[in-house]
Amino acid sequence: MYLEDVRKEGLTVNIVDHPLVQHKLALMRQKETGSKDFRELLEEIAMLMVYEITRDLPMEEVEIETPVAPCRAKMLSGKKLALIPILRAGLGMIGGIQKLMPAVRIGHIGLYRDPDTMQPVEYYCKLPTDLGERTIIVADPMLATGGSSIAALSLLKSKGAKNIILLCLVSAPAGVRTVNETHPDVPIYVAAVDDYLNERAYIVPGLGDAGDRLFGTL
Ligand code: PRP
Ligand code: URA
Repeated sequence: MYLEDVRKEGLTVNIVDHPLVQHKLALMRQKETGSKDFRELLEEIAMLMVYEITRDLPMEEVEIETPVAPCRAKMLSGKKLALIPILRAGLGMIGGIQKLMPAVRIGHIGLYRDPDTMQPVEYYCKLPTDLGERTIIVADPMLATGGSSIAALSLLKSKGAKNIILLCLVSAPAGVRTVNETHPDVPIYVAAVDDYLNERAYIVPGLGDAGDRLFGTL
């Protein structure tokens, strides 16, 4: 299984190191990669990562009939998952995930980092009902200081969410650590843990500003 459980230097994070994910991530990191390719690659990686992280979803046996005979088969059980992208850049992850799980419920949390303080500022929130009964995937390509993810997780918990997974693409050790400390119950899945944050709190080497590259607002 291409899923590495990293417990080093106090970090608890799952790295999805599937070769296809890592290859596509390398393409995304390249500064020559334009918005169209960046967008398509992010969708594809999100789909591949969700394929990996949903392998333990609960299942139930059901009676069905094939054209040949009745049989028992396994299907997903329980309520539909909820997918919560953090705007803007998280939006780039939902298309690929919806291809795998067309009935997933989608909520939106709008947050941006104040460029001076680096603190997250909330500007939008619309969530599915029954959060407490659903497995929730919070999606954001970048986990830098962790401020945005922590704000989103705290908001979801204040609305009743209990079972939350944080799905990011590129992370910095500092962001992983602070999410671990603030929300120890939330498993984190990433494609990479990079080296450090620079003076503007950008991930190094990272891939630059994910929202700007995704939407062509550089
Ligand atoms: C980016 C990214 C995360 C956040 C990560 O969003 O998509 O939400 O920064 O940084 P943090 O871990 O230090 O909070 P940004 O604020 O640039 O907004 P955008 O997606 O609208 O571009
Ligand atoms: N947000 C981004 O889009 N990129 C970073 O490196 C850090 C925060």
